[in-house]
Amino acid sequence: MTTLNAIFRPFIQPHRYKIAKGGRGSGKSWAIARLLVEIARRGTYRFLCAREFQASMADSVIQLIADTIQREGYLKEFEIQKAYIRHLATDSLFMFYGIKNNVTKIKSLEGIDIAWVEEAEAVTKESWDILIPTIRKPGSEIWVSFNPKNILDDTYQRFVVNPLDDICLLTVHYTDNPHFPEVLRLEMEECKCKDYDLYLHIWEGEPVADSDLAIIKPLWIAAAVDAHMTLGFDAVGEKRLGFDVADEGEDCNALCFVQGSVVLDLDEWHRGDVIASSNRVNRYAIERGITCIIYDSIGVGAGVKAHLKRIAAINVKGFNAGEAVKDPDALYMPGKTNKDMFANIKAQAWWAVRERFYKTWRCIEAKKQDPKAALLYPTDELISLSTTNIKRLEYLKAELSRPRVDYDNNGHVKVESKKDMKKEAFPHRIWRMRSLWLLRRQIAPWIHGHCWGERLKCHENAMPAIRRKIMPSGNTPWMVTKT
Ligand SMILES: Nc1ncnc2c1ncn2[C@@H]1O[C@H](COP(=O)(O)OP(=O)(O)O)[C@@H](O)[C@H]1O
Ligand SMILES: [Mg+2]
Repeated sequence: MTTLNAIFRPFIQPHRYKIAKGGRGSGKSWAIARLLVEIARRGTYRFLCAREFQASMADSVIQLIADTIQREGYLKEFEIQKAYIRHLATDSLFMFYGIKNNVTKIKSLEGIDIAWVEEAEAVTKESWDILIPTIRKPGSEIWVSFNPKNILDDTYQRFVVNPLDDICLLTVHYTDNPHFPEVLRLEMEECKCKDYDLYLHIWEGEPVADSDLAIIKPLWIAAAVDAHMTLGFDAVGEKRLGFDVADEGEDCNALCFVQGSVVLDLDEWHRGDVIASSNRVNRYAIERGITCIIYDSIGVGAGVKAHLKRIAAINVKGFNAGEAVKDPDALYMPGKTNKDMFANIKAQAWWAVRERFYKTWRCIEAKKQDPKAALLYPTDELISLSTTNIKRLEYLKAELSRPRVDYDNNGHVKVESKKDMKKEAFPHRIWRMRSLWLLRRQIAPWIHGHCWGERLKCHENAMPAIRRKIMPSGNTPWMVTKT
C-alpha cells in the first residue's frame, strides 16, 4: 500500500470543484486516481473520467486507475474491462470518454457523482459548457487536473482567474511530491539548466503569458493543433523534411516532416555524429517518400551537405538563417518591399510561419461562428500540427510562442528570443547552440515552400483582452498525516 501525499488532503472534503494545477511530476494524477479508487470501495458511485479528446482507450486514465488498483492490492475487488472498471461489491463504476468526440454520450450520462477531467488545460470552453451541466446530480463534483498552458485558456480563466463558488484549488509542484522519481528529476534538471523559461513552464506550471510581442501567439498555435481535421483538409502536396544537425556539446539533432500544410512529425535525438545523423535522416526520408530535405547549412551543416549529396537521391537544399532577405525588391505590402520590412531572412522566414498560424487561427475562429462558412484562406496558406505523431506538443507550443518581435534601428522587423539576446554576447556561437534548433527546423520547410507570396494583410492584434460527503467518517489509514 502506498501513501497519499498530504497536500491532497483538502480533496477529501466535499466541494463542487476540486482543481489540482501545477507542473509535471507533482503527483496530481496519482493522487486523484488513488482517491477515486478509495472512494469507489466505500460506496456506490459513478465516475466519469473525461478528457478533451480521446481517440482510444489508450488515451484515457483507465490504465492509471487499473495500476492504482493493482498497486494497492485491490485487484480481487474490481472488475477491470477494456472500457470500464467496476467495483464488485459496491458496484461503483468508472467510465472513460473524450468530451469533444463523445458529445452526445456525455450529454446523456445520468447520475455521475464525480467527473475527473485530466489534462484539462486542453479542454475548451465549448467542452466545459457541455460537461458541466451534465454533472448535475445533487452533491456531484468536478475534479480537474492540469498543467497550465496559457492564461487565456478557458480552463485557466474559469478555475484560476475567475474561480467559481465552492472551489478547492490546489497548486502543486514536483517539490511537493515526496515520491518524485529519479528519472523525472534528471529530465527536470536538464531542462532547468538548458532552458530556464521552459523549465518554469513545464515543471513549475507557470503559464506561458500571451504577449503582443510574441511573433506567434500561443492562441494561434493552439488553433493550429489538428487544424486540418477541424477545417477539413488533408496532408497533400510535396513531402518535405527540415533537418537541423547537432553541434558539439548539448546540442541535439532535430527533424521536422511536413506534407503540404500539415506538420506530420517532429523528432529529436542526441546521439550520433553528422554522418550517422545524416544517414538517419536519409533513411527516414526514403521510408516516407520525402522528396526534399532542407537542412541548416550553418556550422557543421556543411558536413551534412557533403554527406547527403553523396548518399541521397533526394533533392537537398541548405538554409542559412544568416543570409540577406530573399526577394528583397518584391513588394511585401503596398509601398513596402521585403527589404524595407525585414532585417534579414530569419525575420522574413519567421513572418511566413507566423502568417500561416495567424490565418489558421482566423479560419478556426470563423468556423466557430459559422461551421458551414467557406475557409477564409486557401489551405496552402495554413498550418496544422498533427497530434498523431507529434508527442511533445507542449514543448513546441512553448518554444514557438517564445520569440519576440523586435525592430532594428531602421525599423526593420527582426526576431529575437530571450535566449538569443543572452547569446548576443557570444556572436560567433549564435547559430551553434541547441536552443535554436526548433526555430530553425520550423522555418526550414517553409523557406522553400509556397509561403513567399503570402502577405499578412491584417497585422492588428486580434487577441481578445485578455455535498455530499464522499468519504465515510472514521479514520482513513491510507492517508499520510501531515508532520
Ligand atoms: N503516492 C505516491 N507514491 C509513490 N509514487 C508516487 C506517488 N505519487 C506520485 N508518485 C510518483 O511521481 C510520479 C509523478 O506523478 P504524477 O501523478 O504522474 O504527476 P503529475 O500528474 O502531476 O504529472 C509518478 O509517476 C510516480 O512515480
Ligand atoms: Mg498527470
